[in-house]
Formats: sequence, C-alpha cells, structure tokens
Amino acid sequence: MPIWILNDRSQSSNPPPQPGFYPAGGLNVASYDLRAELDRKLFDDPLPFYRDQALKTGGPVLELGCGTGRICAEIAKNGIEVEGLDLSEAMLAIARDKHPALTLHHADMCNFDLGRQFALIIIPFRGLQEIVTAQGQRAALERAFAHLMPGGWLVFDLIDPDLRYCLPEGDPEIVPLPLFPMPENVGSAANKLRITAMERTNNPLTQQFSEHWRFEEITPGGQVLHREDTWHHLRWVHRAEMALMLELCEFVSISQYSGFNFEPPKYATNQVWMAQRPSR
Ligand SMILES: C[S@@+](CC[C@H](N)C(=O)[O-])C[C@H]1O[C@@H](n2cnc3c(N)ncnc32)[C@H](O)[C@@H]1O
Repeated sequence: MPIWILNDRSQSSNPPPQPGFYPAGGLNVASYDLRAELDRKLFDDPLPFYRDQALKTGGPVLELGCGTGRICAEIAKNGIEVEGLDLSEAMLAIARDKHPALTLHHADMCNFDLGRQFALIIIPFRGLQEIVTAQGQRAALERAFAHLMPGGWLVFDLIDPDLRYCLPEGDPEIVPLPLFPMPENVGSAANKLRITAMERTNNPLTQQFSEHWRFEEITPGGQVLHREDTWHHLRWVHRAEMALMLELCEFVSISQYSGFNFEPPKYATNQVWMAQRPSR
C-alpha cells in the first residue's frame, strides 16, 4: 500500500495524535509536486483521467483536497470552469502561487458550504483517506452530494488496502526513494532532498495507519544540513464499506474500478469510484 517505505524500526517513535501532514514552510509541502510527478511516472497517472471526466461533464467542477492545484490547473487548461478546496493553507499557498487564476477555498471537506452546485466533484489522489474516521469520510461524501447538481457525478480514487500492510505488526515492502533535487527557492540547488518513510503503525480497529516521514537536505558530501519529521495519517477503506457509504449517502449508479483505465476491481491495487446524485 505505501509507495515508498524504508522500514527502520530502530528510529521508531509514537505518532502524534493530530493530523497535519502539510504544514507551512517545510520541505514536505515544498517537495509535494516533485513527488507527485515521480508518482505519475511510476504508477497510474490521475491527470488524464480527471481531465477527461471534466471534459465529459463539461463542468463546473469542484476538486476536494486540491492540494497544490495540479489537477485543477489541468482541467482549467482545457477550458472547463473549476474550483478547488483544501484544508492546508500551505498547499493552497503553492496552488495560488503557481496558478493565480484558480478559484480556491480554504475549508474542511467534511464541513463546507460554497452555496453552489457542480456537475462534477472529484477527490483525486486519495484525499478522502486523509480523513481518518469513518464518520468524517461519510460527512465528506454527504457534503459532496449536497454540492452536486441533480444528475452530477462524484469521482474519486483510494488505495485498495493490501491486508499484509494493515496488521499491527505488518512488515511493509522496503523500497528506497531516489534522491530529489531541492525544491525551487528552498535550501541550496547544489544539495539534494532525501525523503525516507521511517516506520508505520497500523490500527486495524479504526483502519488507520500512520507513516513517519523524514525530509532532509543533504550536501553532495552526504552531510545533513536540515531535517524535518512528520507523520502522515490515513484511513483505509474496504470496497464493500465504500459501496455501502455511498448508498447511505443516497448516491446511485455506483461503479468501481481498479485503475484510471476502467480496469475491473482488483484486490490491493487502486479503488476508482464513480457515483451519481439522482437526476431528481
Ligand atoms: C494527497 S493530497 C492530493 C492533492 C491533489 N488532489 C493532487 O492530486 O495532487 C491530499 C490533499 O487533501 C487535503 N486534505 C486532507 N484532509 C482534508 C480535509 N478534511 N478537507 C480538505 N482537504 C483535505 C490535504 O491538505 C492535501 O492537500
């Protein structure tokens, strides 16, 4: 389930209780787009898929958890009206800087009211899983439903949990990350950014997992100039649970896939969901 894991339990520590993986002023937020670009190259690319959904509906589109605005920008580039919403001011600051023409809202997707409705609402790149309670995830789906025009579509993706990685003592696959260039305007361009997923804790009772990530600026000689530690909290959702949540929120025409090319559902891959607000 995790993309990159170095399982170094010798440096383990307890995750802090509060979320907040995207704080201001740090290497984590500054390097988000670099990581997302690498992810696009290595795995299923969400950009063409969400752009095509936007083109199909013709908009207007709302992206919940829009982050640095890369998907909103792709949709806007195709002439479709789009708005973004995110809880992290730091991510929104990057989005505003890179894409000044976008309409962006600072809000919690579990509790927002924009006073208008959209033909399409998207939650790309597992944003719904950053809500770490089932109640919160359901509240976000209910808010999305309320913001859809009759007949409008909700489209989102999640990680389908590989249950080996969800056990209390689950041993994640060890995949080292390549070194990144330093993000623009951060540190020295001569240095590199090293990102390490230090360790992970799982709570099968609540379906939450927490990953301890370390971000370091290192010199060509390997000296660590600056280090940041942060915890990424997520909640995994089983397919049957998500289908039921969508039904409880009164969505219809619910369909699920395992990838952005409409592959049939498959265990331990991605979950891609499409659901519609009834036409009347
Ligand atoms: C993995 S990023 C995805 C960003 C963007 N959709 C993309 O594809 O690059 C998840 C985003 O969801 C946001 N997020 C997490 N919880 C949220 C909430 N309750 N309300 C709004 N945004 C939230 C985070 O701040 C982050 O920007």
